[in-house]
Amino acid sequence: MQQRTIGDTKVSEIGLGGMPMSIEGRPDEARSVATVHAALDAGVTLIDTADAYHIGATEVGHNESLIARALASYGADTSHVLVATKGGHVRPGNGSWTVDGSPEHLRSACEASLRRLGVEAIGLYQFHRPDPKVPYAESVGAIRDLLDEGKIRMAGISNANPDRIRLAQEVLGGRLASVQNQFSPSFRSSEPELRLCDELGIAFLPWAPLGGSSRAGRLGSRNAAFGEVATELGVSPQRVTLAWMLAQSQVVIPIPGSTRPETIRDSLAAADLALSREQLARLDA
Ligand SMILES: NC(=O)c1ccc[n+]([C@@H]2O[C@H](COP(=O)([O-])OP(=O)(O)OC[C@H]3O[C@@H](n4cnc5c(N)ncnc54)[C@H](OP(=O)(O)O)[C@@H]3O)[C@@H](O)[C@H]2O)c1
Repeated sequence: MQQRTIGDTKVSEIGLGGMPMSIEGRPDEARSVATVHAALDAGVTLIDTADAYHIGATEVGHNESLIARALASYGADTSHVLVATKGGHVRPGNGSWTVDGSPEHLRSACEASLRRLGVEAIGLYQFHRPDPKVPYAESVGAIRDLLDEGKIRMAGISNANPDRIRLAQEVLGGRLASVQNQFSPSFRSSEPELRLCDELGIAFLPWAPLGGSSRAGRLGSRNAAFGEVATELGVSPQRVTLAWMLAQSQVVIPIPGSTRPETIRDSLAAADLALSREQLARLDA
């Protein structure tokens, strides 16, 4: 698969999102591991996870542990795979998602992620979501300290607007490697952030690129142009969507979620799908 760049690291131009393997509706572990292995077989070298991808309060880091086990059981060298995790979201166990962006929490969350992933330094650590109770520069300052101490190799942020991207870049002394925001055919309000990342040369990782687990299957009917182009080309609307995203900018690296080998294989084939200018214009509209 073609490569794109996060900071100083080359990764496959499409990654695997781990969230649906660990939250409500998740499959059994064997199917999740088969999905991760199918992604690796197809050349994926970027896997996105977070300590908050779990259900019960006692299973924090469910997805990080699952990814670590899947990598360990792959049967080939996976040291070149970038596992990108996040801290700053908390799931108390009642189905809700809360935030804690305090430096104390981020430090202890990072230490716990290091243990679960079984690495000396986390490849990419992302501040998951701004915490209204904590000044943004303080949260990102904690990420900078982890970077300076070598506990993380690269720093990213998520759910950030252009002002926060600029502030994070300043706090990190120009070392902001990635921004992860929601972006899909029906959710395009992150375009200003995508354009800013393009201008600054920062990787942009669209989350829920297919509209999220509950909507991904109906993407072609919810977004008519994507359904039409898919029919013309004889491929899935999901594949068309990812190819359209890749065409937005060289900094874009989508991370579709998956719980089945078939869906991740289909999504990854988007890297080889060429869309004409005319088709791209229809999808852009
Ligand atoms: N930073 C944040 O705040 C944040 C928030 C949400 C998500 N994320 C990250 O972004 C990743 C992606 O988001 P997401 O998982 O919520 O949503 P998504 O990628 O838009 O959709 C995931 C769903 O798409 C289906 N799918 C994947 N490829 C398909 C294909 N080719 N054809 C048909 N269906 C396909 C999968 O179905 P199957 O289950 O049947 O395989 C999966 O359930 C997450 O996994 C997570 O890593 C980050």
